[in-house]
Amino acid sequence: DDKFKLAPHPKLPKGKKLMLIILDGWGEQIPDEFNAIHRAQTPIMDYLKTTAPEKWRLLKAHGAAVGLPTEEDMGNSEVGHNALGAGRIFKQGASLVDTSLESGAIYEGDGFKYVKQALPNGTLHLIGLLSDGGVHSRMDQLQMLLKGSAKQGFKRIRVHVLTDGRDVADGSSLKFVQMLEDTLGELRQDGCDAQIASGGGRMRVIMDRYENDWNVVKNGWDAQVLGEAPHRFTSCLEALKKLKEDDPGLNDQYYPPFVIVDESGKPVGPILDGDAVVTFNFRADRMVMLAKALDHEDFDKFDRVRYPKIYYAGMLLYDAELNLPTHYLVSPPQISETSGEYLVHNGIKSWVCSETVKFGHVTFVWNGNRSGQFSDTLEKYVQIPSDQGISFDKNPEMKAIAIAEKAAEAFRSGEWDQVRVNIANGDMVGHTGNLEATIVGCTATDKAIKIMLDTVEEVGGVFMITADHGNAEDMVKRNPKTGAPIKDKQGNYQILTSHTCAPVPIAIGGPGLPKGVQFRQDLPNAGLANVASTFINLHGFEAPADYEPTLIEIVD
Ligand code: 3PG
Ligand code: CO
Repeated sequence: DDKFKLAPHPKLPKGKKLMLIILDGWGEQIPDEFNAIHRAQTPIMDYLKTTAPEKWRLLKAHGAAVGLPTEEDMGNSEVGHNALGAGRIFKQGASLVDTSLESGAIYEGDGFKYVKQALPNGTLHLIGLLSDGGVHSRMDQLQMLLKGSAKQGFKRIRVHVLTDGRDVADGSSLKFVQMLEDTLGELRQDGCDAQIASGGGRMRVIMDRYENDWNVVKNGWDAQVLGEAPHRFTSCLEALKKLKEDDPGLNDQYYPPFVIVDESGKPVGPILDGDAVVTFNFRADRMVMLAKALDHEDFDKFDRVRYPKIYYAGMLLYDAELNLPTHYLVSPPQISETSGEYLVHNGIKSWVCSETVKFGHVTFVWNGNRSGQFSDTLEKYVQIPSDQGISFDKNPEMKAIAIAEKAAEAFRSGEWDQVRVNIANGDMVGHTGNLEATIVGCTATDKAIKIMLDTVEEVGGVFMITADHGNAEDMVKRNPKTGAPIKDKQGNYQILTSHTCAPVPIAIGGPGLPKGVQFRQDLPNAGLANVASTFINLHGFEAPADYEPTLIEIVD
């Protein structure tokens, strides 16, 4: 296919073996006591930074550099891996939904028209993450969608909330539920019967990903569709308060599923035949499983008990290959011609691996939210099963060493031109907010890097190490002006479970790196989208013309 044929690089040879390591949630920050990476034992990453400054630099991984609406938007794995794999910056779901809501175009599209087929009698159900994190969804978008839907004629609306505490502070769900109740109250004043119908924490209800644990989706299905859950309350605020009273250590992410019932004890909003359903998250990875359960007539991942005949639309198209869901309100970024597709058309063989909880990041998201492979012979995707259970502070080493050993083996085999991995610890343990555990996770990450770099050394290959966004390098909330850590009323430091706006490091090296290759100095604002051109060069090809420029130059 000519369109994908790349010109040979004028100076860099073909045939190099590249170890491409993506650290998840690994940014660069002031080295204080809340920086888990600084606190960890990271001799390899320290060595790379200090001994070869011309082969180490920082990259932007948040805001406009990854297609997010504002510079206040922290990075995340979807926008990060999209940019890394695609080599270009695309306006991401968050921005596209903003535009569509502001102009009202969202109500004119096929997706909303389909949803409106539930009128005049059907209830509209909105399911999604209640948060202003801007990673999977946004509170203000939900509020606009609620008001707009009422205007479009829905007389009965039910919201099924998933509490966050992962992209935003633990405990903030109370505030978001109150904001939601205020909006619903306004709608009721205008004659729309609008209520919260069910809830639960995102990590226990609905928002699993990469088929790690279908029970999480089943918990949500039972509460939202069937109106069945282990806990019943007459209001969502009451649910959040009571459940935390019973279990004071509970993080918002882990609320058990609950349903809201009326005075007679009847669930106020199960999903019934003839209803409309919208999943209002714009981000794909943690909506794909629910979308399958709602959209697919044939489905065997759990017993749905009842499969209502509904008009279902996603906020976005979540999987471009599967065309899932069939109906959606806003078109996603058109991320095509990604680096993976170029590599297979130019004969480059890639071996790709991560553990389950991040597996889709280096495959599905890397390829522009497209499931499957570009080639069965030139690509091999290897998944290492993640430990089951929901909180990685209990096993912060995760599968880092197992991934590294497999990657080393693949690299040593000589069969693969690119060996690509995602090491998840900084992010997955960072999201628990447990600083000590995150330190352990970062130490394990550096050990895994050592295993892979030793192999690069042994085989005479090239390596590139970077990260998708910050997380572990800052575990405390800070005063935005002074940077000083913030304490709560009890005098405890406020834990930061979320990602950050920090830049991420990138390092290149290895005995196979051609002499004179170094980072150029004229791209001080480079970001994740500049990485793909760089590794395409290291494979011996010129990058596609529309990709962001390469980070490297060759000096004599
Ligand atoms: C999650 O989905 O776990 C968080 O909201 C974001 O983390 P990720 O972007 O690193 O996956
Ligand atoms: Co994360």
